[in-house]
Amino acid sequence: MEFWIATTNKGKLSEFKTLLTVAFGTNVQVHSTNELPVFFPPPENGTSYLENARIKTKAVKAVKPEAWVIGDDSGIEVKGLGGNIPGIHSARYAGPKASDGENRAKLIKMMQLKGVSDRTACFKCCLIAYSPDGKEYIINTELHGVIASKESGQMGFGYDSIFIPINETKSLAELGPAFKNKFSHRALAVKEFAKQALLI
Ligand code: IMP
Repeated sequence: MEFWIATTNKGKLSEFKTLLTVAFGTNVQVHSTNELPVFFPPPENGTSYLENARIKTKAVKAVKPEAWVIGDDSGIEVKGLGGNIPGIHSARYAGPKASDGENRAKLIKMMQLKGVSDRTACFKCCLIAYSPDGKEYIINTELHGVIASKESGQMGFGYDSIFIPINETKSLAELGPAFKNKFSHRALAVKEFAKQALLI
């Protein structure tokens, strides 16, 4: 099976490669938009995870109609910041070209400035997949936890080093792929997608 992943995010791509190989077997080929000679990712100007996931995944499906194409739009939401912040803006929270470190620093800073005491947080993921014959799959998943007061751990990407999953004491960046590939929002989404695509 040939999969094209609608992302330029190295962390997401690496997770998708592992998750799809585990779910569909070692003969899967996983490619990403980085391999397309001419491809300009469309602006993610939707108002929901679903809309943004569709925008990015459809753009790749248009140039790879014969393949399975998968994309996700994901983000982190902090209850004490009003529930859905930074949400769909997670990748650009500290600015259009912000690094993961800058986004994490802004999140911690905003929580301090606003005196947020409820550190409950949630990763949300909307995965969209298109089969070679154009069938659309939509999967929504979540991973619950809390925002740590400081960073810890070196693994992962994005907000991993400041997110402690529920019932755990370490951050996702300390727990690493052994945890994320089983329990993360993306892992749950790929597992559910495989279940639906393989009718298992
Ligand atoms: P997207 O490419 O617009 O979906 O960006 C999602 C953003 O949400 C990423 O750039 C990260 O900042 C954050 N994010 C999504 N999933 C994860 C994750 O598994 N770990 C850490 N951060 C994540």
